[in-house]
Amino acid sequence: MTRTFPAALALVLTLALPALAQDPGKTVLEACGKCHSVKKVCAALGGKDKAAWLATVERMASKGAQVAQDQRPALAEWLAAQSAGAKPVCE
Ligand code: HEC
Repeated sequence: MTRTFPAALALVLTLALPALAQDPGKTVLEACGKCHSVKKVCAALGGKDKAAWLATVERMASKGAQVAQDQRPALAEWLAAQSAGAKPVCE
């Protein structure tokens, strides 16, 4: 029983990783189009650096956007890396 524990733990970690590293584009489409259209997000692409996006994401989260706290920096970094008009946010 105790000898199988590390293998079981490794399996659990492997299964948990994809959930942590969620596709940021999907997160934006799902979490950021609830109150306003994602066109609002699209319009801001290419105009904010990571710090500015993090401030925006935190402000949206305080209004009720469903983005887990530990995913916000990665989401801000991804948004900052998108150029104006980039898919999938701008379709
Ligand atoms: C709970 C409702 C709600 C959700 C969910 C939401 N927003 Fe907003 N958003 C607003 C409101 C209200 C405004 C206009 C007032 C303001 O800017 O604070 C706004 C404005 C914006 C703006 C334009 C202003 C600016 O700072 O550039 C951007 C960009 C934006 N939201 C991005 C996002 C992103 C990215 C997400 C997903 C993480 C998101 N929003 C989710 C309510 C929401």
